[in-house]
Amino acid sequence: MTVEWNHTDINAPIGVFDSGVGGLTVAREIMRQIPNEKIIYFGDTARVPYGSKSRETVTRFSKQIVRFLSTFQVKTIVVACNTASAYALDELERESDIPMIGVVKPGAKAASEVTRNGRIGVIATEATIGSKIYNQYITELNKDVTIYGKACPLFVPLVEEGLWEDPVTDEIAQRYLSELIDLDIDTLILGCTHYPLIRSTLGRIMGEKVTLVNPAYETARELKEMLGERGLLNDHAPALGENQYQFYVSDTADKFKNFANSIIKYGILSAKTIHIEEY
Ligand code: DGL
Repeated sequence: MTVEWNHTDINAPIGVFDSGVGGLTVAREIMRQIPNEKIIYFGDTARVPYGSKSRETVTRFSKQIVRFLSTFQVKTIVVACNTASAYALDELERESDIPMIGVVKPGAKAASEVTRNGRIGVIATEATIGSKIYNQYITELNKDVTIYGKACPLFVPLVEEGLWEDPVTDEIAQRYLSELIDLDIDTLILGCTHYPLIRSTLGRIMGEKVTLVNPAYETARELKEMLGERGLLNDHAPALGENQYQFYVSDTADKFKNFANSIIKYGILSAKTIHIEEY
């Protein structure tokens, strides 16, 4: 795969992709922080979750998605999935000219700056934790830290079931987080796209001495910087009637639309199903 990128159109959309609905937490931050930008979002709802799949599979899926997004002449691609950022981003960047940004590096950078006692916790999917990608990036920036990873696979289905504030989620979170509390971390990275949606539960359980780092927020901030440096920040809002946000999925659109409407308050105008295997 070689995806050519040779235009510098500030009006071009930003491509954003995730294994499903989780990346909407990243899209939401982009909408908030750089509201003039157009977004083409792809959620791989037919093949979610990525967090329990192999590096090879996640990389193959991600390459197909990059090929799909590049048909829109996007000016940049946001890999809005921690697992895809951990497993596939390096290879995607090697094979494409389109500038890309993942969610792991911005989250790692923020955590390395925030910690006071040098003890950082990371919660994420099994794949992201197993890859030790957060450890790698954080220690590149700050050698004097210890990172404790904890896979929390049940959070994804709990969030997708809408149990954001629920005793069941509380109970599971207590179990997952108790060892991180005992390890006296002062910073916790929410290293999975879904976790910002249960941020208040996580914050309550960790206590106010622990700072929660949200990679979705940090990624939108870095994206804004990156586009600014390249002179690619859109300086005017899209014209009335222009379809600013377009959503594509690989499974039925209805379920996605319902979930998306509970996260993004800008109104999901449409979501279309496409055959991603064809790319
Ligand atoms: N989007 C994934 C992530 O951030 C979580 C869901 C999945 O396992 O696909 O790692």
